[in-house]
Amino acid sequence: MRLDKFICKSSELTRSEAKKLLKSGEVRVNGEVAKNPAMQVHENNDIDIDGQILTARRSRYFMLHKVADSICSNVDEGYPSVLNFIDVDKAFDLHIAGRLDADTTGLVLITDDGRWSHNVISPKKECQKVYRVWLRNPIPVEKSIALIDKFSQGIQLQGESSLTKPAILTLVTDTEVDNEVLLTITEGRYHQVKRMFAAVGNRVIGLHREQIGALKLADLASGEWRALTEQEINLFS
Ligand code: URA
Repeated sequence: MRLDKFICKSSELTRSEAKKLLKSGEVRVNGEVAKNPAMQVHENNDIDIDGQILTARRSRYFMLHKVADSICSNVDEGYPSVLNFIDVDKAFDLHIAGRLDADTTGLVLITDDGRWSHNVISPKKECQKVYRVWLRNPIPVEKSIALIDKFSQGIQLQGESSLTKPAILTLVTDTEVDNEVLLTITEGRYHQVKRMFAAVGNRVIGLHREQIGALKLADLASGEWRALTEQEINLFS
């Protein structure tokens, strides 16, 4: 991690205070004065400020049940950032592992561990995200098999050169027509779920993320958050 980030993570200092300290030559890495805030350091390095050794705080991991009209961003822009809901010290130093649109609700993972969030987000890791989707046009039962098949082959999104990765479409309401479905995807392209249904002539009117990998939103109420357990953290380590 960057040296300035390490200093912030292991002290009460802000990023600009850390940079000032570095400039003044008061920080040493393995005994050598270090002035470059971008220098890459590791927890095993001895890093001290005026002889006082810094010990990195442990990374933090949370889950949140996102409400509509909040945004997955580190700044408030039109709507409040979801980080406002996480009532911990330095919440805005955290980042969101897989964004949801402002009008989408459901499971959001929040951390300051970049490697861990990469495991959640990277399409190469094939971590499944399960969405409950409400559609404007119900899917007639007689068309459902063909549509399930189409989603499993990958969908051509407008303006994109490659098909989406295979997705699992499951109809959940037991009626003649179906406008509530579950969709499982392993990527996070821009507005992906909405664009997948638009590509087959439908429109998403409600979207809720229920599950990421084996982690379910379960009984976490809307707007509530909690720290992940060690076992839950390890699901993506
Ligand atoms: N796909 C979307 O279209 N929106 C989201 O918020 C998440 C996935």
